[in-house]
Amino acid sequence: MDLKKLPMNIRPRRNRKSAVIRAMVEETKIGVEHLIYPLFLKDGFKIKEEIVSLPNNYRWSIDLLLKEIEHCSNLGVKMFDLFPAVDDSLKDKTGSYSWADDNFYLEAIRKIKDSFPEVMLMSDVALDPYSSDGHDGLVENGKILNDETLPLLSRMAVAQAQAGIDVIGPSDMMDGRVSSIRDALDTNGFTDVSIMSYTAKYASAFYGPFRDALNSAPKSGDKKTYQMNPANKREAILEAELDVFEGADMIMVKPALSYLDIIHVLKENFNIPVTAYNVSGECAMVYAAADKGWINYELAVAEILLSIRRAGADGILTYFAKDFAQYLKK
Ligand code: PBG
Repeated sequence: MDLKKLPMNIRPRRNRKSAVIRAMVEETKIGVEHLIYPLFLKDGFKIKEEIVSLPNNYRWSIDLLLKEIEHCSNLGVKMFDLFPAVDDSLKDKTGSYSWADDNFYLEAIRKIKDSFPEVMLMSDVALDPYSSDGHDGLVENGKILNDETLPLLSRMAVAQAQAGIDVIGPSDMMDGRVSSIRDALDTNGFTDVSIMSYTAKYASAFYGPFRDALNSAPKSGDKKTYQMNPANKREAILEAELDVFEGADMIMVKPALSYLDIIHVLKENFNIPVTAYNVSGECAMVYAAADKGWINYELAVAEILLSIRRAGADGILTYFAKDFAQYLKK
């Protein structure tokens, strides 16, 4: 390019010259209304156990969790995704504890919705927290069975709906699970319960701290026969087409940061809301660097969440939700 011929009459910096002008031309907004806060739950009383690989995040017993939810709600964070840390002794091949009558997770859903009917409560549907194999589906001879897993997921989803869940989050990546769950919910009268499908969920290295939190890592093998190959983008469109066709209300991309292009392509091509899961490993990197004083925590978090919104996410599941809400209040 000939620098002498640059059109210096056009100067983008003029639109950045003052805070009010910058605010007027700001293209992307982010607020507490976009944030879904993942929370880990453990059976018991007065438990608040910090997760070593995800500092600042805890396994809560329901009594303390209720207080935490009230606190978050006062900060404007009113959407939560609950994950159960289940004792190994309760795990089996089919994840039957997930629909057991005395399941503490279902009890927690009832209590939270009783105390805070206005919050949006989301669940996770997959076998892994309940499975003695640590996989999202039923395992037989080292294989993850697809169709045999579907009724188990549906039963789990119906139990959560009976407890009062607002949104079901199937995170298992079995083929056909959205239609199977939708069918089961409708048959049981839960036509108002939504499905936010983990549509493009990649076989990612960034789930480590989450698996520590729940002690849910696979006992053998990996999740590559069901979670997506990080190299693939067009396949995310196929997954989204299927989920929309099967009745998903919202589609999710997971993880978020290494997959901003996937968020963008789904937002451009589908007319239902797109969400993104800013997963545990992504947040752990920020906690670690900030702890060493290598980055400014609040500014880095604000920039990360903004980038996910800019890529096209309507909602963001993030462990930063509470801290970011506090930052916005300042
Ligand atoms: C379980 C599930 C996982 C996450 C959400 N639901 C882990 C996995 O698939 O192994 C990861 C979330 C995170 O890392 O924050 N199916």
